[in-house]
Amino acid sequence: MTTVAVVGTQWGDEGKGRVTDYLARNARWVVRCQGGPNAGHTVQIEDAVYRLYQIPSGALSAGVRPVIGNGVVLDPARLIDEMDALTAKGVDLSNLLISDRAHVILPHHHLLDAAEEDLRGADRIGTTRRGIGPAYVDKHARMGVRVADLMDAQELRRALERNFAVRRAYLSSFDPPLTVDVDEVNARYLEYAARLAPYVTDTLAVMDRAVSAGDNILLEGAQATLLDVDFGTYPYVTSSNPTAAGLLMGSGIGPTHLDQVVGVVKAYSSRVGDGPFPTELADEVGAGIRERGHEYGTATGRPRRVGWLDGVILRHAARVNGLTALAVNSLDVLGGLDEVRVATAYRHRGKLLDSFPASLKLLAECEPVYERFAGWPADLGTARRLADLPESARGFLRCVEDVARTPCALISLGRERTQMVEVHRLF
Ligand code: IMP
Ligand code: MG
Repeated sequence: MTTVAVVGTQWGDEGKGRVTDYLARNARWVVRCQGGPNAGHTVQIEDAVYRLYQIPSGALSAGVRPVIGNGVVLDPARLIDEMDALTAKGVDLSNLLISDRAHVILPHHHLLDAAEEDLRGADRIGTTRRGIGPAYVDKHARMGVRVADLMDAQELRRALERNFAVRRAYLSSFDPPLTVDVDEVNARYLEYAARLAPYVTDTLAVMDRAVSAGDNILLEGAQATLLDVDFGTYPYVTSSNPTAAGLLMGSGIGPTHLDQVVGVVKAYSSRVGDGPFPTELADEVGAGIRERGHEYGTATGRPRRVGWLDGVILRHAARVNGLTALAVNSLDVLGGLDEVRVATAYRHRGKLLDSFPASLKLLAECEPVYERFAGWPADLGTARRLADLPESARGFLRCVEDVARTPCALISLGRERTQMVEVHRLF
């Protein structure tokens, strides 16, 4: 009986979906705990590619029960589309559970996400414009609409009125004013409610029973440590806590029940959206990694910025998540390069800095200090044990473990389910 949290250690897109899918084979429950349709997880099984946005990646494993937890902001229209697309590919979602405490993304959250980004101009955050930030604002301002409200026509109307009593003034202050037809929203969301009702439940009670029964539970992080509203590159972050404590909060599982925290780290870095990126490669080495790694956003299709692995960031992630193991992804993508680098510290005005600064101004003045490794061959696809890997790749992995002060449990060498080296078992 084990509860394992899987978190991203960089800016997202580390391949958490792949690691969750791998670990889910031994899990009974997989829980999405925060975020919403801003996330995009890609999982390849044989020749089929599955894209998951709000449903946990572990849903693809037979016998696993996927849960959308209380910490999520749910877009019902997009969830229904996602369910239909997965069902059409033969995925059985009859076991899906949705927390009645999750919050609901409303049409004006989309409008505000886009309008506020436009007002920021060159200072924009680069959000996915899926309404995530404004939905969390309404939640914390105590005027959100919860799934429980959605399940009751009278409560839905009341919750919408309560929201618009306050929101209307702000919406109308835009030029041109942002308009929402409350009656139309009410009617449309009642239709969504009818579709989702069979899945909605008190997931806290379900999780409590699962913990008591000793079931293996996987908490699946969306986004990542540097997008965490507390620990990330604020304000270039998302509006939730994708770190380990946030996953507990968003699943309703108490902190004393967490056994392992796995940090997923890509062998290089990538970032969608704006904000500082000390190890960014704005050259043809970066362009090559982007192509080999298919570094285009799952949720938005945007090309991702790429760079070397940043050990200062990884160490920061190890600290704030309390990592117990690493899952290193995409080692194969770096194959074929003459040289591979890992930043092990920053230099700031002649002084070495080994912890990640809060000030973005200071961060922008930092220069990465690199450790260099000889490249390895492009094809690592048949390696199944650590010993099968070239010495240069093993040296790279030792460096990653050293900067994170955390051992590797999993190393991924390709997109296929079988292309994985399991150094030690988590479940
Ligand atoms: P938001 O979550 O849409 O508000 O976007 C805030 C920031 O988080 C932007 O830089 C997004 O690109 C980034 N972001 C949000 N979700 C993901 C994700 O799943 N992967 C990578 N970046 C993300
Ligand atoms: Mg993604």
